[in-house]
Formats: sequence, structure tokens, C-alpha cells
Amino acid sequence: MSQFPDPNTLLQEAQKQIEQVRSLDALEEARIAWLGRKEGRLTLLLKQLGGLSIEEKKLYGPQYNSLKARLEELLAAQEENLRSQERRRALENDTLDITLPGAPVAYGHLHPLSQIMDSLVSIFRSLGFVCADGPEMENDFYNFEALNVPADHPARDMQDTFYMESAAKQLSLPHLTASHADQEPNLLRTHTSPVQVRVMQKYPPPIAIVCPGRVYRHEAQDATHLAVFHQMEGLMVDEGISFADLKGTLGRFAQLLFAPTVKTRFRPSFFPFTEPSAQMDVSCWICEGAGCPACKGSGWIELLGAGMVNPKVLSGMNIDPEKYSGFAFGVGIERIAFIKYGVHDLRLFYENDTRFLEQF
Ligand code: DAH
Repeated sequence: MSQFPDPNTLLQEAQKQIEQVRSLDALEEARIAWLGRKEGRLTLLLKQLGGLSIEEKKLYGPQYNSLKARLEELLAAQEENLRSQERRRALENDTLDITLPGAPVAYGHLHPLSQIMDSLVSIFRSLGFVCADGPEMENDFYNFEALNVPADHPARDMQDTFYMESAAKQLSLPHLTASHADQEPNLLRTHTSPVQVRVMQKYPPPIAIVCPGRVYRHEAQDATHLAVFHQMEGLMVDEGISFADLKGTLGRFAQLLFAPTVKTRFRPSFFPFTEPSAQMDVSCWICEGAGCPACKGSGWIELLGAGMVNPKVLSGMNIDPEKYSGFAFGVGIERIAFIKYGVHDLRLFYENDTRFLEQF
């Protein structure tokens, strides 16, 4: 019987081996070493039991069978033990540190020109103006005639204005062409001033509006000229509006836009739709008037055109110029960007290079 070792000794040996195992792979090796179907130590012993006498089988059979059951239990327990260790390790490695700063999300933002338009509108809102809108495809009446721009005015020249054929003409619908001639758009607006006309046509005074929007000029493009750019028009009409209202409103606007200490000055100018007309300059807030490169040493920066609404424009809209008066102004959005940010090539605003746009 010497070939059959003591089951307890075997159990101790196997137990020690199983407890020392540190990985599931090694545990599988141990299982094969003891219980593998062909070469397992215990498997081979159990096979040899078949050759024993009945008495010996009765003696060893149960002992070895229970040894096998015990080994299976030990293997299962160690497997569970290793698996839970592995889970714990994975959890420890995967812990989420909620105090770590998050991965940055690249937010987009409004285009600098949109930002400027928004800030102009909100400044004028705070002064009691409302925002109005008008079409970019206009006609001679709104863009020129109603604004007292004479037929021979250079702005009407093909050099300055983009003209287009009316849709009715293009589609050769003569009945439409005839009756809608004065309403059909035939040009791209060269300024936002036609919105004044549309508002006065529709609403009686008091009027206080601003209208930001895109305008078009037949220009050769360079650093300071674009064929498509933006303006904001302003109009206030009521009884007793005077040049003092114009000065007060636009002076306050400049302070809110640039700096509270900014001063304004008005120089005579000419626009067909205003009389008198003026250019408004703002004192340079960078050098506070002392003279610097931004104001080309003059201490002043030209900002916008303005004036008292020409009585002819009012009467053309059936607003009695004896009773009502008003002021109007037009300001270039790109010009403000140019002044405020010192961007000296306006084309940069239209190239959509994010390295440029991200700076605003
Ligand atoms: N429409 C003018 C332009 O495009 C700007 C302007 C000047 C508008 C004076 C006005 C104004 O309403 O009063 O250059």
C-alpha cells in the first residue's frame, strides 16, 4: 500500500500550494497538476484505485474521493478570493477623482462684429431706442430718393452701387414689372439709412430706433475697404428734437462704448438726408487727448456721421416738418472694431481664421 500516500499529507501539500497561488493562471496550473484529466496527481491515484482489492477500495475509495472534493472546494475558494482581489484592484485603479479639473471644452463665441453690434444695440436700448430691421435688397426709392439723394449723386453710380435686375424683369412678367416697379428691389442697399424710411412710412412719431445690418458697395477691397460691411443707423423723431438731443445722445453713447471720460466734438459735414450735418469725433481715450499713434497724434478719432433729419425727408414720409424734427446718425461697425481693437486690416474679420477670432 506504500504507493498510496496518506490523503492528509496530500491535502496539506495541495492546500499549501493553492494558498500560495497569486494569479488565476497559476491557480489553473495547480488545478491541472492535481486534478487534470490525464496527468493530475490525484486523478492518477484515483485511476490506480481501480486495480485494488475490494477491501482496499473500501478503505481508500472514500478517503480519496473526499480528498478530491476537498481539493475542488479549496480551488473554488481560492478562485473566488483571487477574483475579488482583482475586482478590488480594478476599482482602486479606476477610482474617479471628482476634484480633478475637467477636460476643457472648446466653446465657440459670437463673431467680434456681432459682439460689437450687440453692444451698440444694448447701449441704445438703455437710452430708450428700439431695434428695427430692413431688407438688404432695396430699390432706388428707399436707398436714395426718399433720402433726398439726388439722381446725379455719385453714390448712385454703378461704381458705388450693386444694381440687379428685378425678379419680375428677370422672369419677364411685364404686368408685375409695371405695377411693382417702385417696390421691386433693384439694388443692394449701400447704407442702413433706408430702414429710416421704412420705419417712418409705417409708424408715426415719436420714433427712436437703431438698425444694425449688412450693407454693400461696389469697392475694390483692401485693408480699409470692403464690398460687404456693417453699419448701424439711428433715428429719433418727435416734437422739439434739437441738435442738443443729438449731441447729448451720441455723447453718452461714446462714453458707454469707450470710456466714461470720453469727450465728443462735432464738425460740419454734408449728407443729403440731414441738414445740418456733422461728423462726430471722440477724444482719444488711449492718450486722453495728448496724441498717440491710435489717434495719429491729433487726440481725436473720427467716429460717425450724423445730423438733423432733412425736412424734405420728413415731409416725403408725411411727417409734418413744422411740427416734428429729428436727428439721425450712421456708424460703421467695422470702423468701431478698427478703433476699439486696433485691427488695421478689416479683411481679417472675414477670413474666419480662428487664431484671429479667438482673441475677442
Ligand atoms: N448713410 C451714411 C453713410 O452710409 C451714414 C449716415 C450719415 C447716416 C449721417 C445717417 C446720417 O443717418 O444722419 O455713410
